[in-house]
Amino acid sequence: MDQTNKLWGARFTKKTASSMSNLSKSTHFDWRLASFDLLQTDVHVQALNNAGLLDKEELKQIRQAILQLSSELESGTLQPSTDDEDVHTAIERMIIEKVGDIGGKIRAGRSRNDQTVTDLKLFLRGSARVICQELISLITSINDQAMKHFDQAAPGFTHLQHAQPVTLGHELAKHSQGFLRDIERFIDWDERVNSCPLGAGALAGSGLIMDSLWVAKKLGFSNSSENSIDAVSDRDFVAEYLFICSVIGIHLSRIAEEIILWTSTEFGYAVLDDEFATGSSIMPQKKNPDAAELTRGKTGRLIGNLTGLLATLKALPFAYNRDLQEDKEPVFDSHDTLMLILPAFSGMISGISFNTKKLNDNAATGHSLATEIADWLVKNQVSFKKAHEISGECVKLAERKKVEVHELGFNDLQSVSTIFDKNVLSVLNVEAALALRKNHSGTSPQNVKQQIARIKDKLSVLNKWSQINPVPELK
Ligand code: ARG
Repeated sequence: MDQTNKLWGARFTKKTASSMSNLSKSTHFDWRLASFDLLQTDVHVQALNNAGLLDKEELKQIRQAILQLSSELESGTLQPSTDDEDVHTAIERMIIEKVGDIGGKIRAGRSRNDQTVTDLKLFLRGSARVICQELISLITSINDQAMKHFDQAAPGFTHLQHAQPVTLGHELAKHSQGFLRDIERFIDWDERVNSCPLGAGALAGSGLIMDSLWVAKKLGFSNSSENSIDAVSDRDFVAEYLFICSVIGIHLSRIAEEIILWTSTEFGYAVLDDEFATGSSIMPQKKNPDAAELTRGKTGRLIGNLTGLLATLKALPFAYNRDLQEDKEPVFDSHDTLMLILPAFSGMISGISFNTKKLNDNAATGHSLATEIADWLVKNQVSFKKAHEISGECVKLAERKKVEVHELGFNDLQSVSTIFDKNVLSVLNVEAALALRKNHSGTSPQNVKQQIARIKDKLSVLNKWSQINPVPELK
């Protein structure tokens, strides 16, 4: 690293070792924040002008240089030099190269410690919205499948054993609920990210620029941070962002697991579209659910990014420490990982075709209608404790006769308990079991339709939030 490219050095008598420079350098990843660094620099120089520290002409020249750099950045021609320590160093150097010595004035009243947090917050606020847009597409794909199969019977599981019949629409819509909560999590989170650290300086605040709130508003934040020491040390917003990304990963991974099971020969409940499956280099017959498996696998790195950052933060003294430079790579990785997974995952979901006959046939297997017998008895004034015992006896009899419990004849049921009358037979089918469950969260077909309508209402509100980027454009 060239000594002249550094933002520090006068008090040193020796050159920085090249191994030290290599360790210190972050431009290879934080250059990704360059547009935000230009934006905040543009606002900062206006604040310097407000404070009487830059005259009108100087301000004009520097702002013009910033605009030029911004368009060079957009066209892809602007690159940091190998000697730039970080994005902030590079941008300052580039401005000085364009405007000469007056460029050296821009460092007044700020520090890389408050700059780096500001850049990251600006990046993250946009990132959250872009991820939410992908989640909304995914929820829409799930809803479409759920609507198509709103009254399709399917086996419902607990402990991966047949439990009670459910509608396939309900089974699918459950996934939309988790993703809706993820979007809501980002919206809650955004409230806490919504304070601008600029003005904190290295840690103590600024004696040069007083209008921190003006700066904050210019950058799209509602507030200026309350405490300068906290402002440069806080990475809660990064940990929370990585947590939300991890939960999204976990939701995706649980669906992925379901798809992997359901497309197996043993289950045979679903078939993937060829567009979203892969083959084997040796076994010509193979059609593998790699999109689901890669998603399940990549969820590990999303969780790793979170736990890695938490380990970095644990027991760090206040205020800024260089350890905090480790906050950015996990963020970029989690953002990129989700932006890679989500479009493929939506496509995979849209392309699934379900083996409706098999789902139907299996819905009542494993004695999954035994609860219907117990509920019927309860409606006939039997305590649930007793009803459970009687229904359990019916299952035992069915197992002995090698039939399903709903296949027992009336005489069989009567042999277990004389409380049964012929009406019991009317509840011993899947359709009746599904139709009965029409409480608010229940699986009945009519509920699935209403549930999806409510999800769509919520989506249109969340979509509005995700479409508005709070970060102003540089112009
Ligand atoms: N590049 C650093 C980071 O990302 C900011 C530099 C702070 N350096 C310093 N000596 N305080 O955290």
